[in-house]
Amino acid sequence: MRPLAAMLKPICILFVGDIVGGVGKRTLLSLLPALRERHAPDFIIVNGENAAGGVGITPRVADELFAAGIDVITLGNHTYRHREIYPYLDEHERILRPANYLKSQPGHGWCVVESDGARLGVVSMSGNLFMNAGKPAFTEIDAALHALKGKADHVLVDMHAEATSEKVGMGWHLDGRVTAVVGTHTHIPTADARVLPDGTAYITDVGMTGPRGGVIGVKREQAVQAMLTKMPVRFETSSDDPWLNGVVIRCSEPMRAESIELVLEPAPPGRALG
Ligand SMILES: [Fe+2]
Ligand SMILES: [Fe+2]
Repeated sequence: MRPLAAMLKPICILFVGDIVGGVGKRTLLSLLPALRERHAPDFIIVNGENAAGGVGITPRVADELFAAGIDVITLGNHTYRHREIYPYLDEHERILRPANYLKSQPGHGWCVVESDGARLGVVSMSGNLFMNAGKPAFTEIDAALHALKGKADHVLVDMHAEATSEKVGMGWHLDGRVTAVVGTHTHIPTADARVLPDGTAYITDVGMTGPRGGVIGVKREQAVQAMLTKMPVRFETSSDDPWLNGVVIRCSEPMRAESIELVLEPAPPGRALG
């Protein structure tokens, strides 16, 4: 048995919200050196479900993110948009689709990464309200945590969900049992980042890394046109006013967070344009 508390050093996790298109990827890559310097993260996790052209992810984009030093990529409801990612999801340990998808669907929902002897478990989960997950999040998270038992000193859960109620509920369900529960999917950061009473860092939505000048990633005139006319409109990813939205979580005891702080950064001028 490993004497956990004695061997653990304080760690810092940088979690970055949904990378939207090439503009989001370039925003992340251009800001990474400064973020590394400022926060010295031991682990960097990004949600990549919109990283390829605004919807889904491809092996090329995932390889690029891993080559930049991203430790884990989490996904969500757009996981299966590009067929070429299916075998990649089975073959690559550190890219996760929601753990509460069906066993028959490509990929897996959790992994463990290590840095300097600290072991971080990462779990991707999908909400069930207005989402298409095959299994209930609240029972499947228990199965995932059971599978991670003894394998990780810290656990971060990406709760990818539409309804704020489900995300808040998951935060309380896991308070004291995991290091962090971070919400993704709505692309809008929420103002409720805090450490819950039993030590779990929580935020309802981290936000997105992409164009703030659009409508959750889409060119604003196209999104408004669709809302106005109720007719089909071809959506393209906006490149207007790209920002990075993320959180920095610091922890020293196993499965406990000390702090969670928002990181909201505009892309350096000119650097995020294709
Ligand atoms: Fe997204
Ligand atoms: Fe999503």
